[in-house]
Amino acid sequence: MPNVTVIGAQWGDEGKGKIVDWLSERADVVVRFQGGHNAGHTLVVGDNVYKLSLLPSGIVRGTMSIIGNGVVFDPWHFRDEVARISGMGVNITPENLQVSEQCPLILPLHSDLDGAREDASGAGKIGTTRRGIGPAYEDKAGRRALRVCDLAHLDDIGPQLDRLLAHHNALRTGFGMPPVDRDELIVQLRDIAPSVLPFVKPVWTTLRDAKANRRRILFEGAQGVLLDVDHGTYPFVTSSNVVAGQAAAGSGMGANSTGYVLGIVKAYTTRVGSGPFPTEQDNADGEKLGQRGHEFGTVTGRKRRCGWFDAVLVRQAIAVSGVAGMALTKLDVLDGFDMLQICTGYTLDGQPLDHFPAHAAEQARVVPVYESFEGWSESTAGARRWADLPAQAIKYIRRIEELTECPVALVSTSPQRDDTILVRDPFLD
Ligand code: GDP
Ligand code: IMO
Ligand code: MG
Repeated sequence: MPNVTVIGAQWGDEGKGKIVDWLSERADVVVRFQGGHNAGHTLVVGDNVYKLSLLPSGIVRGTMSIIGNGVVFDPWHFRDEVARISGMGVNITPENLQVSEQCPLILPLHSDLDGAREDASGAGKIGTTRRGIGPAYEDKAGRRALRVCDLAHLDDIGPQLDRLLAHHNALRTGFGMPPVDRDELIVQLRDIAPSVLPFVKPVWTTLRDAKANRRRILFEGAQGVLLDVDHGTYPFVTSSNVVAGQAAAGSGMGANSTGYVLGIVKAYTTRVGSGPFPTEQDNADGEKLGQRGHEFGTVTGRKRRCGWFDAVLVRQAIAVSGVAGMALTKLDVLDGFDMLQICTGYTLDGQPLDHFPAHAAEQARVVPVYESFEGWSESTAGARRWADLPAQAIKYIRRIEELTECPVALVSTSPQRDDTILVRDPFLD
């Protein structure tokens, strides 16, 4: 099976976009299978910086790109992102971009609700991107969502809309918001439909044909396993499954089609939004990691929380999502640290613990056990060969492999596309 599934193995922003872009040179199709425009994937190609939230990262190279049924789809954002990225000289047409008919739509009422809930939650807020992701997935599961295919049948949308608005207007009243203007929403949908419909396809047929012709399919995950609605730090998670198993369900392919699972792992840890973070460094080390790594959210501009590498969490993420090999990113950010710390275990109420507990209060109470690690003074920035890495950096990588029980397949040493060390080829493994 020549396919590769890329997923984040921490709390997102591990550098998935860069690695998908790098791999997509040899892929025939790139598919997004979950999440929505809460993602922010940055690709740096020479002087151009592409920030993608909804479009698959393969689009920048012109590779056939598919937005699968598992994605929640904001049509207005789609129109604007297509225009923005096209404006940077990228050719985007229905020949190289397809959107599943089955994607649930994110409407303005979803971001309204996301924001209202966050504002009403005080200290308990999740710190979402406020882009309506959670409410849109709720409506999908609640069987009241409008979907992309409905944009072609707006004359018949009345009964569906009534069901959706009955639910939302009750919630809106509770939050002190005015009811949705039904007529205005229909006008908005009529206005946006022509920007989306040319791209809409039964994308499962494209994937079926690609599979039959033994084309290489690259599945592009968004977020990271620790934000997965089942396996993450619930309730401080996103509302979709992020793990590799979702690649099949969220694209319309069989579970045997997702191929080699490549976990993207940052050489330290970051998190944006609320929730537990055992190795967080709210101090000069955290500041230094954030500054050197430019750790500001692509989507919201929020400062990302930073801390040491947590091998317990990554080992767990790798296990629950079947990761076969990892791409270790942002190694260069650690250049020049005298000492690094790696979390190798926890204690909970004084007792040793070799995994992250499920209960939120226990998650907040675990205390990391650290192993100190001597840093390196040489630069790894821009290294493209294993032999160019300082001995101490290689030791750090080897220790991470040991602790996470997972081999390194790629190492990334700068934001630039080609500053990437290939250790073993995910497409050939
Ligand atoms: P994603 O959401 O997983 O695609 O990651 P983001 O794009 O949100 O965040 C990763 C950031 O790190 C982006 O600004 C990338 O350009 C940058 N980046 C990716 N790989 C490397 C690397 O190896 N070194 C450095 N210094 N930056 C990197
Ligand atoms: P990429 O694909 C980092 C976080 C939000 C918040 C939580 C829920 O760029 O790695 P949501 O809007 O999804 O309901 O927010 O999830 N979050 C991300 N954090 N990277 C992302 O995507 C994220 N997408 C959502 O900050 O804590
Ligand atoms: Mg990101």
